[in-house]
Amino acid sequence: MKKFATALITLGAVGALALAGCSSSDRSETPESSGSGSAAAGFPADATIGVALPQKTSENWVLAEQLFNDGLKEAGFKPIVQFANSGVPEQQNQISAMVEQGAKVIVVGAIDGSQLGTQLEAAKGTGATVIAYDRLVKNTEAVDQYIAFDNYQVGVLQGKALLEGLAKRQGAGPWNIELVAGSPDDANATPFFEGAMSVLQPKIDDKTLTVVSGQTTFDAVATQGWKAENVQKRFDTILSANYSAGTPLHGVLSPNDTLARGVLTSVKQAGLPTPVITGQDSEVESVKSIMAGEQYSTIYKDTRELVAATIKAVQAYQKGEKPEINDTKSYDNGVKIVPSYLLTPVVVTQENAAEIYANDPTLSALTK
Ligand code: BGC
Repeated sequence: MKKFATALITLGAVGALALAGCSSSDRSETPESSGSGSAAAGFPADATIGVALPQKTSENWVLAEQLFNDGLKEAGFKPIVQFANSGVPEQQNQISAMVEQGAKVIVVGAIDGSQLGTQLEAAKGTGATVIAYDRLVKNTEAVDQYIAFDNYQVGVLQGKALLEGLAKRQGAGPWNIELVAGSPDDANATPFFEGAMSVLQPKIDDKTLTVVSGQTTFDAVATQGWKAENVQKRFDTILSANYSAGTPLHGVLSPNDTLARGVLTSVKQAGLPTPVITGQDSEVESVKSIMAGEQYSTIYKDTRELVAATIKAVQAYQKGEKPEINDTKSYDNGVKIVPSYLLTPVVVTQENAAEIYANDPTLSALTK
C-alpha cells in the first residue's frame, strides 16, 4: 500500500504544480458554500446511493462497478450501480429510477454530459446531491461536485510522450503524425485533445511535426462512442490515401488504449511498421503491448483511488460536512464552475511500468 499512500500524499502536496497545465492558483481552497448546498443537512448512514455508469467502453468502467458496489456496502450504504449500455435514454431512465428509489447521492459517469439536466435537476429537487464522476456534467446547475483525474493534464502527458517516443524510436525529425480524439459526446474528449495539442501545436507550427492527412481539428479526428472499429475505419482510409506510397507514419496521438489498439490493427493490416503511439487507462492488452515494445505509452489513472475519493465525498455529504475540493477554477460546465477534486494522472512507458504498477497486482504481473 505504500505507493498508494505516497501517491495520495503527493496529490495534496504538489497538486498545484502537477496540474499547472490547466493553470489554477487556488487548488487547495475549501469549497464555496454554494458549491455544495445540499451538504448541510446530511442523511441516514444506510441511505441508498445511485451510481450511473456509461457504456463499458474501457476497463476502468468495469472496475468501477465492482469497486462502487463493494466500497459503498462496506461503508454501510445501499448501492444501486448501473451501466447504460444502450445509450443516453437508458441512462436518463436509470437516474430517474434511482431518484424514485430515494437515492441521497447520484454519482454519474455520463455518456453524454449535456443530456442529463432534466433528470439531475429532479434529483436536486428531492434534496439529493449530484457528483459528476470522471466525466463532467454540462449545462446544468444540478451538479455539486466533480471528481476525476485531471483530464487536461492527461492530454499534456500524452503530447509529451508522443514527442519523447518519436525522438527515441524514430530518429531525428521532422516526423509525420496523425491525430485521434475521443467521443464528442464525452466531456473529457475535449480537454484530453486540448491538453495534447498544447504540446503538439507549436511543433506542428514549426514543422517538426506534419499531420499528413491534414486532419487536425477536434471534429475531424473525434471517434464516435470511443469505438475501436470507428478509428480503425478512419485509419484504413487515411493510410491508403496518404501512406501507401512509402511516406512513413512515425507517430499517432491516441487518447486511450482501446483506440490505440484499433489504430495498430489498421496499421498492421496495411503492412506498415508500428508507429510511436500513445494511450490511456493502462488496459491489460495495452500494457502487454507496451512491454512487448509496440504501444509506446499509456496513462495510469488508478480506478481504486478515484472510487475511494468518491466514496469519501459521499461519506462527507452523509455527515452534513463539506467534501474535499482542490480546484475551483478549471471545470466550467457552461453555467457554473463545478468545484472539483482532481487526482493526478501518471504517464507509463516500458521504462517505468514496473515502478508505477508496483501496487497493482494485475498490472505489475505483466511487467515481470
Ligand atoms: C475516460 C477514459 C476512457 C474513456 C473511454 C473517458 O471519459 O476518462 O479513461 O478511456 O472515457 O471509456
